[in-house]
Amino acid sequence: MSAQQEIKRLTAPDIRARKGGAPIVCLTSYHAHTARILDQYCDVILVGDSLGMVMHGLETTIPVTLDMMILQGRAVMRGSRRALVVVDMPFGSYEQSKQQAFASCARVLKETHCGAIKLEGGRRMAETIAFLVERGVPVMAHIGMTPQSINVLGSFKARGREEAEWAAFDDDARAVAEAGAFSMVIEAVAEPLARRITADVPIPTIGIGASPACDGQILVLEDMLGLSPRVPKFVKRYSELGPSIGKAVEAYAAEVRSRAFPGPEHVYGMKHKDR
Ligand code: KIV
Repeated sequence: MSAQQEIKRLTAPDIRARKGGAPIVCLTSYHAHTARILDQYCDVILVGDSLGMVMHGLETTIPVTLDMMILQGRAVMRGSRRALVVVDMPFGSYEQSKQQAFASCARVLKETHCGAIKLEGGRRMAETIAFLVERGVPVMAHIGMTPQSINVLGSFKARGREEAEWAAFDDDARAVAEAGAFSMVIEAVAEPLARRITADVPIPTIGIGASPACDGQILVLEDMLGLSPRVPKFVKRYSELGPSIGKAVEAYAAEVRSRAFPGPEHVYGMKHKDR
């Protein structure tokens, strides 16, 4: 058996078993090269529908299609070997009926070979989640601020900052856990609410703008690397790659204009003819 075959990929049940244990490290990736780097450090790589905004400059995730998710999901699977890869279901691919959801999820699992899917919604998606899980589709739920509902919500602002709002989010969390989701993302809610949900549900919570008490954390890779021009308050920038890329491109442009690049070491000479 080769060394390559010995690495076992994490599964949805492995992540489910991490409730209350060591924090689950998650980041987004949409490409093979970044997936290769993340794979060394992350338990879960999410191919998020945020790719619509990050890669394509869209204002929201609404226009993202199933084909876009599948293309990038395949790239991330090719680049990774150990992390559980979760692919987001885009708006319009799963909400209409349980049957529509299963057909879309089956395409994602068959065409990307990823280990799980993620979908947005709490109580309203519980029946669909149960239907999918019973039929072999591991589901990561996503509650709190759900970006695919932007046209109904009106803004990406944090939720649950008034205690009167909490009951609905508590109910969403319990409903997706009871339906069989193996974990749930909690996005942009008041910290005490995320802490309380984490204590209340039997499955791991993955926070983004939520609480350090969550069972894991996730960020959008380009946001934490300093590549995204505008980021929400909950993003910590671990690098400033934007300005570094700017400097590199400025140096390249100057060298092309002055003919300093390419140098002799970057061009091909003729093959020597010995005879
Ligand atoms: O699409 C995405 O990147 C996400 C994360 C922000 C959780 O859903």
